[in-house]
Amino acid sequence: MTADLFDATAMYEEDYLYFFAGGSEAPTHGPLVGTAYREDAAVELIWRLLDLAPGLAVLDLGCGHGTMANSLAARGCRVTGLDSSAVFLERARADAAKAGLDVDFVAGDMRALPDWAGRFDRVINWTTAYGYFDDATNRTVLTEIARVLRPGGRLAMDVDNLPRFLASCPPSRITATRENGDMLVDRHHLDPLTMRFEVERTVIRDGRARRLTFVKRLFALPELRDWLLAAGFTAVGGYGEDGEPLTADHHRMVVTATR
Ligand SMILES: C[S@@+](CC[C@H](N)C(=O)[O-])C[C@H]1O[C@@H](n2cnc3c(N)ncnc32)[C@H](O)[C@@H]1O
Repeated sequence: MTADLFDATAMYEEDYLYFFAGGSEAPTHGPLVGTAYREDAAVELIWRLLDLAPGLAVLDLGCGHGTMANSLAARGCRVTGLDSSAVFLERARADAAKAGLDVDFVAGDMRALPDWAGRFDRVINWTTAYGYFDDATNRTVLTEIARVLRPGGRLAMDVDNLPRFLASCPPSRITATRENGDMLVDRHHLDPLTMRFEVERTVIRDGRARRLTFVKRLFALPELRDWLLAAGFTAVGGYGEDGEPLTADHHRMVVTATR
């Protein structure tokens, strides 16, 4: 295990939900922080790429505020959502309760999953919920996923698509705004030695500014494929947000693999 590259509790909390959990209001411009998927398109895509069916045991790893976990549960999957953010889990549980859904939302750390060996038919890891650590630890996360999947079980990960991301990445931008003048302003820095994308974020709400930083690792498909193969996966595939084979124009890179 490693020292954290940034303070995840400062990043994944109420301000994040305020700006990014607004459904169709969530920002979608590039480089994408919200989602490139329209309405239920991501759920449809996961369903198809992973051959999902009611009754299958699904782990949503880094489930955030539970959008995907709750949608898959509504379609009849037996869903566990794991995340490290207490604020996000609280929202996920409240939404599940409101919708009458039975989802097991668990507080945890993707670097060291619970005693769940072989428990899941499918794992999803969605909206760049991967690549927050040094590379040895990022690779540990993949071996943890392999451990909790049953043999023949399958994984789908959704991360930024490197060529498109780099082509559309300004040095800084206003990432999100609200009509009342609240906004998120991000300054970007890419370290090509580590392929870590570092963001210095200023959150402005009610005229008060708060500063935080976060870091995410960017991947080209061959590198992530090699890491997945080394972690015990086979049949690694790469798709765009429309489910077609990955191109440089796609916003998202969806990587699938079989345990
Ligand atoms: C970009 S969000 C994506 C959330 C969700 N998958 C979605 O599609 O909305 C990344 C998520 O990873 C979670 N996360 C960050 N570090 C984590 C860790 N060490 N263990 C578990 N979850 C973590 C964050 O709390 C956050 O919910």
